[in-house]
Amino acid sequence: MIYLDNSATSFPKPEAVYEFMNSFYRNHGVSPGRSGFDAAIETEEMVQSTRTLLTNMFNGDDPNRLTFSYNASDSLNMILQGLTNPGDHVITTMLEHNSVLRPLYHLSQEGIIEVTYLPFDHAGYMDPGDFRKVIKKNTSMVVVNHCSNVIGTVQPIAEIGKVCKDHDLTFVVDASQSAGAIPIDMKAMGIDVLVFTGHKCLMGPTGIGGSYVMEGVPVRMTRYGGTGVRSAQRTHLEEYPYRLECGTLNLIGVAGLHAGVKWVLEQGIEKLHHQELQLWDKLRMGIQTIDNTITYCALNKENRNPVLSLNIKGFDSGDVGTMLDVDYNVACRTGLQCAPLVHEGIGTANCHGTVRLSLGPFNTKEHVDAAINAIAEIATLRSCNKFESAVTR
Ligand SMILES: Cc1ncc(COP(=O)(O)O)c(C=O)c1O
Repeated sequence: MIYLDNSATSFPKPEAVYEFMNSFYRNHGVSPGRSGFDAAIETEEMVQSTRTLLTNMFNGDDPNRLTFSYNASDSLNMILQGLTNPGDHVITTMLEHNSVLRPLYHLSQEGIIEVTYLPFDHAGYMDPGDFRKVIKKNTSMVVVNHCSNVIGTVQPIAEIGKVCKDHDLTFVVDASQSAGAIPIDMKAMGIDVLVFTGHKCLMGPTGIGGSYVMEGVPVRMTRYGGTGVRSAQRTHLEEYPYRLECGTLNLIGVAGLHAGVKWVLEQGIEKLHHQELQLWDKLRMGIQTIDNTITYCALNKENRNPVLSLNIKGFDSGDVGTMLDVDYNVACRTGLQCAPLVHEGIGTANCHGTVRLSLGPFNTKEHVDAAINAIAEIATLRSCNKFESAVTR
């Protein structure tokens, strides 16, 4: 399989991730932070050191404010519900994933908040000045996707953060596609809450994600339960990390994330990103020379991730995906990719979205050549009117 679906989840993982998950869980598969025997203490140390690795990666101050959850969607639910109050106005963008759009939509349907969705420009970028224009008296929060999972564009987070600071708005950034791919400095970028997922560019397994909440940001607790400490207390613990964590952690997930983050740091975030963007540029240029193809917001390598959304004129994106899979063994994602408003913005909402090819650290030039050749052959089939026989074969 030629795997070009790294925006969904990175695959394969580095060998070190598989190995550490196996060895750690065999030797330390006990409940962290609950008991005083050696294995429990060592397990807790691994969890804490993962908090520290990520806190340092995002330039936070206190590893306890780095909390774990199932994934980005889980943390976004906790953060968005925990930060909004009746009557609030929230500004977000048309670049968001459903993991932001849906929690906000439900809050607005319940009459708790009102939401403004800002459009992106023709190249796929937000204009920080646009945020300023829609701020109202009751605006409390701005939520922005750092990097689009559909078109790969990386947003001017520091500039948007400045607008938020100027107007005293809480700034929440969805770093699902950027954590581990692009350097993130929460302080320099003015980010109040950063949400990440473990299974994409941080190279961990599925089922682990989290958030970092800066000091002074008042996230209400929305979940209560066991914490392993102060068990006689009737209320859930207010301090971090307990505030946003309850129950036994996904230990094997944290172990995989631990090894994934270490691997990314050893390779170097910038080095990996540069290597993937070189391949992306080759892919983009190869596909843009094929007749009947359309690429979206794919001008150059600047401020972007290695994600290419495309269509072949006259073809449904799902059919192209099926042909790539069945005839060429190329795995990709088609359709709306959980981000329907991006497709409204690029004009593909009513034609079943796009074919998305997304690269990762283990892709090669040969993979890119194979994808270009496959798209070229499919596009040529159409002009020869062989489409019907190709999909029914
Ligand atoms: C931009 C963005 N936000 C949020 C998510 C949700 O991540 P998870 O599935 O880990 O909750 C994704 C996953 O595709 C994403 O691309």
